[in-house]
Amino acid sequence: MSSLLIPKVIGHRGAKAYAPENTLSSIHAAADLGIEWVELDVKLTRDGVAVIFHDDELLRCTGADGLMKDLDWKDIQELDAGSWYGDSFIGEKIPTLEDALNVILDRGLGLNLEIKPCPGREKETAEVALDVASRIWPEDGPPPLISSFQHVSLETAMDMIPEWPRGFLIDEHLPDWRQLAEYLEAATINFNGNTATREEVEEYMELQKPLLAYTINDPEFARELMRWGVDGVFADNPDVIREAIETRH
Ligand code: G3P
Ligand code: MG
Repeated sequence: MSSLLIPKVIGHRGAKAYAPENTLSSIHAAADLGIEWVELDVKLTRDGVAVIFHDDELLRCTGADGLMKDLDWKDIQELDAGSWYGDSFIGEKIPTLEDALNVILDRGLGLNLEIKPCPGREKETAEVALDVASRIWPEDGPPPLISSFQHVSLETAMDMIPEWPRGFLIDEHLPDWRQLAEYLEAATINFNGNTATREEVEEYMELQKPLLAYTINDPEFARELMRWGVDGVFADNPDVIREAIETRH
């Protein structure tokens, strides 16, 4: 397993508080703030193109009806993924994974790539995403952290590129989380920081892997989680959170 140097703050979906989530502008916004790593969600179009997008439905971030899994790339690339957010982002596109990786590498960012398959495409999404990422990501640099809520996606990642670290995502506490995390040889535990109890966090800590909490936009709560022993947080406003946790109180 590669050694992991994960910063205390990771920009969520780029830097979602400052630009439309999961777009190239959002990646640039994080880099412009001096943030070291971003988290992005990857899923597939109907014809199997890996794109950076969070929801199964297109509506919230493009205004279009329908599902990502029902449209081909030629139609997805026509959508406007910026105007819902603000006029200055009109015309922003849904990026392919390839385009996003090239910007990340150009900007010198680290990456947590979350495999976010549409239902039924857990294996295929991981296969395509890792195929694209392994072609582009340099072999001599720190690898991306590959995470997912979908255990099949993580299992596929483990089979394909075992040396890339895997983040085991937990939303609601799973009674068998430890067995699953051990089976998947998870390098990090990425848990819902807004719903986890202190007891659950202490249980996760017993695994002695980095603990990353999502999505923490409140500076005081970020400081509190750090006091609990959490190693890092995902934030929409990573500059604000970074300043809060770097300031001694
Ligand atoms: O990977 C952390 C976080 O992004 C997981 O939740 O729904 O924002 O992708 P979500
Ligand atoms: Mg995500």
